[in-house]
Amino acid sequence: MRTSVAIIGAGPAGLLLARLLQRSGIESVVLESRSREHVEHRQRAGILEHGTVEVLRACGAGDRLDREGLVHEGIELRFGGTGHRIDLAALTGGRRVVVYAQTEVVRDLVALRVESGAPLLFEAEALAVEDVDSERPRVRYRHDGAERLLEADYVVGADGFHGIARRCVPAGRIRTRERTYPFAWLGVLADVAPSTDELIYAQHERGFALHSMRGPEVSRLYLQVPPETDLADWPDARIWEELDLRLAVDGGWRLRRGPITDRSVTPMRSFVAEPLRCGRLLLAGDAAHIVPPTGAKGLNLAVADVALLARALDAALLRGDPGALESYSDTALRRVWRAEDFSCAMTAMLHADPDGDEFSRRLQRSRLDYAVSSTAAATALAENYAGLPSDAVP
Ligand code: APR
Ligand code: PHB
Repeated sequence: MRTSVAIIGAGPAGLLLARLLQRSGIESVVLESRSREHVEHRQRAGILEHGTVEVLRACGAGDRLDREGLVHEGIELRFGGTGHRIDLAALTGGRRVVVYAQTEVVRDLVALRVESGAPLLFEAEALAVEDVDSERPRVRYRHDGAERLLEADYVVGADGFHGIARRCVPAGRIRTRERTYPFAWLGVLADVAPSTDELIYAQHERGFALHSMRGPEVSRLYLQVPPETDLADWPDARIWEELDLRLAVDGGWRLRRGPITDRSVTPMRSFVAEPLRCGRLLLAGDAAHIVPPTGAKGLNLAVADVALLARALDAALLRGDPGALESYSDTALRRVWRAEDFSCAMTAMLHADPDGDEFSRRLQRSRLDYAVSSTAAATALAENYAGLPSDAVP
């Protein structure tokens, strides 16, 4: 089989890239190792920056998002028994975020692709990317029990952190930088109306907690837990009790409880591969970088990558101008490193460090006090959280 762009992975990065290329009349084939059912039901993040929403709308994937997404103009930082609102919109000249699950973004993009009839192969596992330095790179993959070859002008590795694309690069051509954290997030989905209109990020000596949501009837809640946590040790009652303790606030607020329908433990890491290109192989999304989820940047970075990449491939393939492809990595990595810094800082400001001493706890409290009392500090938080416009990325 031959195509113009071979895309490995049908997460948000791969699916959106395929959609953007299709709108420019560029052919692609998407290979996804898992089933459609699996890809459409994985619980992931849920906050879309303004810029992300615009990209989705512009490629015709914004209808349900506009109907069902919840527009949020602020977030709450909760600590020391008090809630403090960060007014994202007021501090950023009107930038808002939309609460719309990544799962739904994936469903919308899969539906568009399937409807268009363009190739999207589920249960098609990429095994290797070959000949990335030639004009005809290839993906070796397994589908319907047979090994096959997909030849392309370019190959895009959008196959997530555990994918194979990054690992197929010849030794020494891509460097990686990584940081791990001494904690993970236990995330649950509960069939109960959210107990808050805006997201609550809570710092507590017992550990971080987050109250998010998936719609008017579904709450999404997270607890900081040790990385080796076994879900069997967390029956529903323990989860709710711990959330009550960490989200406690002076006054009459109470957390509503409901049946838990999904639970998982996610490790936290920061990771960047540099550069994002090796010959005719390009990396995008989680295949290239990971952020801890505290800043809600993972999905937004994936979308920013492929918006750039689609324009660059368009210029290279349709106009014979390779310039944008040559600068893709540098341009994308500037936003990536800004998000890495922000995500690290939000994580440090809100999590209980098991190795921390009293000095580090005092620093953390001072940082929180500053974030909610100084307009300058709150603005820095707000503009990073709501998402920097492309021309403001340093
Ligand atoms: N062959 C084919 N597909 C593969 C292979 C492979 N060898 N390895 C992994 N995949 C698929 C995975 O099954 C997954 O569907 O690649 C896809 C990668 O999707 P994501 O992990 O969702 O990554 P990405 O599209 O970059 O999305 C960005 O934002 O909120 C964050 O981490 C969250 O996934 C999210 C990310
Ligand atoms: C989510 O709703 O899943 C979510 C929201 C905000 C975050 C991380 C996850 O920072």
